[in-house]
Amino acid sequence: MTAPEGGLAEGRGPLFDESGASPVKELFGKLADGTEIHRWSLENGGTRLRVLSYGGIVQSLEIPDAEGRYANVSLGFDTIEPYVSESPYFGALIGRYGNRIGEGRFTLDGETYALSVNDGGNSLHGGVGGFDKVVWEVEPFERDSDVGLCLTYTSPDGEMGFPGTLAVKVTYTLTSRGDWRIDYEATTDRATVVNLTSHVYWNLAGEGSGSVHHHELEIAAGRYTPVDARLIPTGEPAEVAGTPFDFRRAKPVGADLRHADQQLLYAKGFDHNWVLDKGATAEPEKVAVLRDPGSGRMLMVSTTEPGLQFYSGNFLDGTLVGPSGRTYRQGDALCLETQHFPDSPNKPSFPSTVLRPGQTYRSTTVHSFTC
Ligand code: BGC
Repeated sequence: MTAPEGGLAEGRGPLFDESGASPVKELFGKLADGTEIHRWSLENGGTRLRVLSYGGIVQSLEIPDAEGRYANVSLGFDTIEPYVSESPYFGALIGRYGNRIGEGRFTLDGETYALSVNDGGNSLHGGVGGFDKVVWEVEPFERDSDVGLCLTYTSPDGEMGFPGTLAVKVTYTLTSRGDWRIDYEATTDRATVVNLTSHVYWNLAGEGSGSVHHHELEIAAGRYTPVDARLIPTGEPAEVAGTPFDFRRAKPVGADLRHADQQLLYAKGFDHNWVLDKGATAEPEKVAVLRDPGSGRMLMVSTTEPGLQFYSGNFLDGTLVGPSGRTYRQGDALCLETQHFPDSPNKPSFPSTVLRPGQTYRSTTVHSFTC
């Protein structure tokens, strides 16, 4: 990254407390029952991150352009209330299961589990009280030249219908290069399914600046998982070649968005899982690049996961107002959610999302920024 004026790309920057020892923690708001929600602000390598204890939400993520002009490149809100009442998962941690489980049920080891349904008849992003709606324990840390936050939450057995007590640890790290890395870990005391992700809505020109249809996107995937009208995968991956789903070479997000492809009609745009060519890997590998030609800001996503949900902000409808004071309309941001495939618990041919006692679920995604 080109060092912005004032050398902010160096070191930890001003978002540390007076001793310089730990990220700034402040009261962000209170839930209806009086629970205090805190906001943590941290900075390293020129990237500024603000995180809420509610939902592990990334409330803002600021990066510079080549001239050192910062912009908050993730959609969100100024206050706690809209996060509780109407947020379409802005910036949130997602669990226990990212994306949809068809009909909100699955069978594991002969037992059928009925989940919280919140998307027609489906369970979406963990149900009505998913990990985006819980209060996380947050601990700041410093390691070598990295700074970060360790978020923990223990989901009780049966929460949202999922079996097993799930102990979850999510680590947000800002590296000295300004990368934002997420490490997820979970263990269970009964066989269960897990698929954790992060739901940042990206607009590299800055939240509230309008459509991202001119952003250029590249996804390293030759196949994707087509869906039915309920947005549940049919189970048969399809080739992207010759379809609007081919992002193997960078192209503007809006280039093929208006094709009358049945898949785009079902989802009102892109809202699909790409089958990453690399598959599941032990170390994060580069899978997607997003670039805003206007500002030159670029995001590179690397992950250990086998799938990527590219959601083109289809359901933003002009009714939500961001910190910029401007409304969010369809296509004003996009999500790149690293994940296992939607509805895997009901699709034996998909990579398994089953976690058993004694095993540790692990997943890592790294967001690198350049300009
Ligand atoms: C899903 C969309 C959903 C959105 C929630 C995405 O991850 O794929 O279908 O509407 O989250 O805002």
